[in-house]
Amino acid sequence: MSLLFRAGTAALRHRGRPPLRRSSTFNVSGYMPEAASFPGVRDFPGLRALSLQQPDRFWGALGRERLCWISPFHSVSNCDLGQGSIRWFEGGQLNVSVNCIDRHVHKSPDKVALIWERDEPGAQVKITYRQLLEVTCRLANTLKRQGVRKGDRVTIYMPASPIAVASMLACARIGAVHSVVFAGFSADALADRIQDAHSETIITSNQAVRGGRVIELKKTVDQAVKLCPSVKRVFVAMRTENKVLMSNIDIPLEEEMMKEETACDPVAMESEDMLFLLYTSGSTGKPKGVVHTQAGYLLYTSLTHRYVFDYHDGDVFGCVADIGWITGHSYVVYGPLCNGGTTVLFESTPVYPNPGRYWETVERLKINQFYGAPTAIRLLLKYGDEWVKAHDRSSLKTLGSVGEPINSKAWDWYYKVVGEGRCPVLDTWWQTETGGICIAPHPADREAEIVPAMAMRPFFGINPVLMDDQGRRLAGNNISGSLCIAQPWPGMARTIYNDHERFVNTYFKAYPNHFFTGDGAYRSKEGYYQITGRLDDVINISGHRLGTAEIEGAVNQHRVVAESAAIGCAHKIKGEGSYVFIVLKDGIDIAEHIINKELKDIVSQKIAKYAAPDFIQVVMRLPKTRSGKIMRRVLRKIVENKVDELGDLTTLDDYTAVQEIVAGHKLILEKEAKNSSS
Ligand code: WT7
Repeated sequence: MSLLFRAGTAALRHRGRPPLRRSSTFNVSGYMPEAASFPGVRDFPGLRALSLQQPDRFWGALGRERLCWISPFHSVSNCDLGQGSIRWFEGGQLNVSVNCIDRHVHKSPDKVALIWERDEPGAQVKITYRQLLEVTCRLANTLKRQGVRKGDRVTIYMPASPIAVASMLACARIGAVHSVVFAGFSADALADRIQDAHSETIITSNQAVRGGRVIELKKTVDQAVKLCPSVKRVFVAMRTENKVLMSNIDIPLEEEMMKEETACDPVAMESEDMLFLLYTSGSTGKPKGVVHTQAGYLLYTSLTHRYVFDYHDGDVFGCVADIGWITGHSYVVYGPLCNGGTTVLFESTPVYPNPGRYWETVERLKINQFYGAPTAIRLLLKYGDEWVKAHDRSSLKTLGSVGEPINSKAWDWYYKVVGEGRCPVLDTWWQTETGGICIAPHPADREAEIVPAMAMRPFFGINPVLMDDQGRRLAGNNISGSLCIAQPWPGMARTIYNDHERFVNTYFKAYPNHFFTGDGAYRSKEGYYQITGRLDDVINISGHRLGTAEIEGAVNQHRVVAESAAIGCAHKIKGEGSYVFIVLKDGIDIAEHIINKELKDIVSQKIAKYAAPDFIQVVMRLPKTRSGKIMRRVLRKIVENKVDELGDLTTLDDYTAVQEIVAGHKLILEKEAKNSSS
């Protein structure tokens, strides 16, 4: 519980916009047409109460209204959180690609589905629903012809592009399970994920282009494949004109696609068949393949996309996340496409060719909802307001934030400068495991106040509770605890691939019959939620999750390292960075700048560049309990410069270890101060 803090929310309070209506007069069916199925429910609290008290009635009606079924479901939910058994819409059959493409082609074939915002500004490409269907079908037929079958796992290693989205949807069309791996992961990390998924098929591109630089994606795949003898085929799309070395398992994707038909029969999938795996970090060194299934996930992402962002037909939705993360899955691809929307695929960076890129893109593409990460906002804030003001942002209606806490300074700048005080800023809290947004300012009551830098209110069907250390539910407000969700919802993860036991142990054991999020939260006097950060050994670097055990695993592979301990530390731009303590093997003497560089390299090579440690401190020994457990609490306090809060050290086996680490940390701080002033 030590990581929890209580924010001074009273000082932050001001209104997102003036309250025009009170919730008690809220017109439910005006707001949510599907609510016509709930006669007698007149206001927002009534609708929310219904979603919690009669979840089957609520989700059943929405499932029938919003999704297009091949055969209808016979039960809405069948869940037992104690066992980690979660089943929604059983008996129903559907195809996700039909829901995301075909049904919109019937209505408006020439509507733009994707706007590919390529790295080079002004080079965007628009893809209509009809074109997306054709590309997806050709790709699906290619996969089938090359032997990919229903249930097979397909690893996709490419940045956001129409062909990447078509790859995901082509898998969905033929019932294959996609596993998108963020294209910034190293060959080793990619190989781990290919092996864990037993994936025989990879889809990649020859190269990637980002921030004006060319990245050799195919070469990374080649290295990974060497470690994965199970891989039978690698489809290679051409992002650039440059030829790359092709081996006998490599297949030129577009060339093969051109030989295929533009139609492909969709496979009827059961609601609970797997749709995708997505690897995310946990508190062990091994990432987990979070499994999402078909109907519940699709319904939940489309509903949250529609109501959290207030997305309307004709709007251009701009989520700048990469498709390699859950945000890209839910709010670049599945949510917006299920709603027949127009979604932006952003290939570039916030500072290419200059720090005005986001806002220049907003102006050129007339983006209505912009969804980004606090780390980028903090970075852009540093460059000043001129880069924002140089561009017309009048198209913007809502601004979203996700991935990590947004501090009030960044929130304010986003609200006042970017949104000109017109657009509500939505701090949305959710996780890879929750499938879609769970807590966000006004998922229903459009006129309700927004307190800056707070995730605020649970979405329909989400029942957040706070727990104390003894596993007791905390009643009342103005209180902090472990954030759990007390009822199942359709978007939640179903299992960890090939490791259901880990799923149950991680999420359902700490607080029986509750989903444990791993986060701490504060509930304000008014009953609003604010997320205070992870309670486990997971850190959040620029909105990307990373286990400290993964960093240690990589660092420990260096020839001179005897042992290590990694912890998170505050970082001005990234939100959190990593601070690694290492003990050298006996008799080793190595220059500091050499070990620093080599350890950064090894972490980049074993995991990804973003994971490279920010600080490395060589110590004689790590503080340990008498039973040999590393006391991370002590290391955290030292790094937070709270040496006077070290607390009870009587269980420590050697107090001089702590004194030595405190002194070494001071030196690192001094050096850091010198570097940043020079
Ligand atoms: C973790 C989940 C959800 C998509 C991106 C990250 C942190 C996420 C917020 C927020 C404070 C947040 C949590 C969570 N987080 N959104 N609005 N405020 N913290 O997905 O990689 O699964 O990470 O990100 O700690 O547990 P993810």
